[in-house]
Amino acid sequence: MRILALIPLALSLTALILTFLALFAGHKQSFMQDYDIITLNTSQIGTNVFNTTSSSSSNSNSIVTFLDDLSNSLKDSLNSNLNSLAQTLGLHDFYSAHLLNHCQGFYAPAALANETLSPQTISRNVTRCSDATALYTFDPKDTLQRQLDASGLGVDLDDLRWPAEIDEGLGALRVAQKAGFVLYCVAAAFIGLAAVTSGVGVFWGEGRVGAGINVVVGVLAFVAVGVASGVVTAVAVKAAELVNFYGNDVGVRAERGGEFLAVTWAATALMLLSLVVWCFECVKGRRRQKGTGYGTEKRLP
Ligand SMILES: *[C@@H]1O[C@H](CO)[C@@H](O)[C@H](O)[C@H]1NC(C)=O
Ligand SMILES: *[C@@H]1O[C@H](CO)[C@@H](O)[C@H](O)[C@H]1NC(C)=O
Ligand SMILES: *[C@@H]1O[C@H](CO)[C@@H](O)[C@H](O)[C@H]1NC(C)=O
Ligand SMILES: *[C@@H]1O[C@H](CO)[C@@H](O)[C@H](O)[C@H]1NC(C)=O
Repeated sequence: MRILALIPLALSLTALILTFLALFAGHKQSFMQDYDIITLNTSQIGTNVFNTTSSSSSNSNSIVTFLDDLSNSLKDSLNSNLNSLAQTLGLHDFYSAHLLNHCQGFYAPAALANETLSPQTISRNVTRCSDATALYTFDPKDTLQRQLDASGLGVDLDDLRWPAEIDEGLGALRVAQKAGFVLYCVAAAFIGLAAVTSGVGVFWGEGRVGAGINVVVGVLAFVAVGVASGVVTAVAVKAAELVNFYGNDVGVRAERGGEFLAVTWAATALMLLSLVVWCFECVKGRRRQKGTGYGTEKRLP
């Protein structure tokens, strides 16, 4: 048994666990909720649009007409507390996308920080998650519109000035979710294989051939998890930027999931480390073989 080979085995096994966690985070309401790819904060959606005292409203006429159409009870609740507009309309404060589903809920104790409520003490209270499905894609426009319809107030996403550009950004997220799902499955398979070949290396695979196989499998596993992490990171960052740019005026914000990205990049780093150890083994094996050859040659005459 070779102690050095235990290191890549431990690294691969840890990376395998992290890859599964990235894949299954948030698939149930109680499981790693904060490890999302991106979160949409819709708690202030439409607040500007409905704020008739706001001077920045450009289409004030249509908004006034629209307000006239609203029921009195809605108007009352809007006037009494503009901050709960999303809830009044049947929407949630946030929608978080995972690889297999999305979850929704409300900020507790409130969505907005103030003098007495610091931003750090605001937490997410998830109320529901969609069913976990393979190749899941997050379509917030559809989700939000269905919830608006369900509230029966006759409010449309367009009334809330939902920007079309957001949908384009989140379209890329949908592609990334599908690609990410496939890539994480491939990565999990290769990392699992790397763990097996490392395990074989610990007890049996002495020398360069064993190390060489481990290097090949290690490269495949590292590339797979690296590409998966890269794709999801790029899209999460880009989509969040886009949503924040176009959604700012209508009270929609997005935040990329730092915790998720930490997990997936940790898995990538572990696979890189494991690969480095095997490369070292491989080079060491070659040196040993060369050295032996030289030695025998000298001893022969
Ligand atoms: C409504 O708009 C006015 C003017 O821009 C602003 O002072 C006020 O804070 C806004 N109200 C809310 C609840 O956003
Ligand atoms: C979270 O939501 C549930 C159901 O809506 C509610 O009963 C609970 O009090 C909430 N928790 C917090 C901390 O607000
Ligand atoms: C701050 O927000 C909390 C929670 O919504 C509320 O209870 C409190 O009255 C607010 N404080 C101020 C100073 O607005
Ligand atoms: C949600 O977005 C609003 C702006 O739309 C922001 O003021 C608030 O701090 C955000 N809340 C959280 C918990 O991120």
